[in-house]
Amino acid sequence: MLDYVENKKTHQTDKPLRVPTRSYTDQDQFDAEIELIFKRTPLMLAFTAELPNPGDYKTMDAVGMPVLINRDKQGEVRAFLNVCSHRGAPVAEGTGNCSRFTCKYHSWTYGSDGKLIGIAESSTFGDVDKSEMGLRQLPCEERAGMIFVCLTPNAPMDLDRYFKGYLEDFEALDFANWTYLGNRRIEGANWKIAFDGYLEGYHFKSLHPDTIFPRTPSNTMHYEGFGPNMRIGFPQHSIAEQLKDVPREQWGDRENAGYDFVRIFFPNVSLFVAPEITQVAQLFPGPTPDRNVTILNYLRREPIRDEADREAVEGAMNFFRDVTYTEDYVIGLEIQKGLESGAHDDLVFGRNERGNQFFHEWVNWYLEDDPSAPEPQM
Ligand code: FES
Repeated sequence: MLDYVENKKTHQTDKPLRVPTRSYTDQDQFDAEIELIFKRTPLMLAFTAELPNPGDYKTMDAVGMPVLINRDKQGEVRAFLNVCSHRGAPVAEGTGNCSRFTCKYHSWTYGSDGKLIGIAESSTFGDVDKSEMGLRQLPCEERAGMIFVCLTPNAPMDLDRYFKGYLEDFEALDFANWTYLGNRRIEGANWKIAFDGYLEGYHFKSLHPDTIFPRTPSNTMHYEGFGPNMRIGFPQHSIAEQLKDVPREQWGDRENAGYDFVRIFFPNVSLFVAPEITQVAQLFPGPTPDRNVTILNYLRREPIRDEADREAVEGAMNFFRDVTYTEDYVIGLEIQKGLESGAHDDLVFGRNERGNQFFHEWVNWYLEDDPSAPEPQM
């Protein structure tokens, strides 16, 4: 990264990559992405810090699937489809803390392990086998301060194979002991248009002249791949100055002091770790191909100190939400309109947009649905 800044270079691949415009507009491609990517890969759906105590739960919608995640008395985290086995109502709403879930429709109750424990006025209901009528469980694993879920029941989920050691980064950051500050929700264009914006710094000077560019030069990125996931290094203008007196073997400890990382989890998470406040964007496709819903989550190392601190944090979350929306998501909506106009058959990613190329190579790999096909390499 130091070399890139001093010599005005960036990470490059061997040639530009063309991506068909219809991959951002086409309903069949959109449906295939949900089935073959979002329902097959481990999705980071929650943080340890969001559900710190036994009994804590949260509900959410993930690509149209109602999901319930909870922590039981023993501290174990589970995920379920939030769908009652009686007649399909949700058994929980929002976030909260409880030891059992009661469906609001006819008050059937479920334990924190998802087992059906009570049928209201069961003497009148007739014979059913309660042991077969629990909530439908989803593969779920808590690791390095995050909760990963696969949206297909009984699907295999192998985080070590998927992340190839990348989660050690988060163990080193002690992410599990951070404080969850809150979240904001924004909507934008097709999920890949929005996600493409998180994967390169080629646009910093042009689109973010007053927010990002004063700290970080444009078009100066280093990419590392971990399976389909990425770590993007963005050096700061002042990297040479900041590393000047630091022995080389300690450069790795200087995140946010000379350079920053954006960590990308395929297919839909971007984490920007900053000292003041860390933003983690979760992008969900839908409900139609031209739209995404993004949850912007905010965390930091220190707990909230007092009322004034809470107020400052709320202000910071609003500020980051507004910058992300007005500077990145608004142009995404304009791009969507442009792509739907039929002006061009393809878009093109340059040799310098390595992260975008890598992301689209992996999207295509999953859509091929052939595990024996060679995996893209950084
Ligand atoms: Fe849940 Fe009837 S739908 S109790």
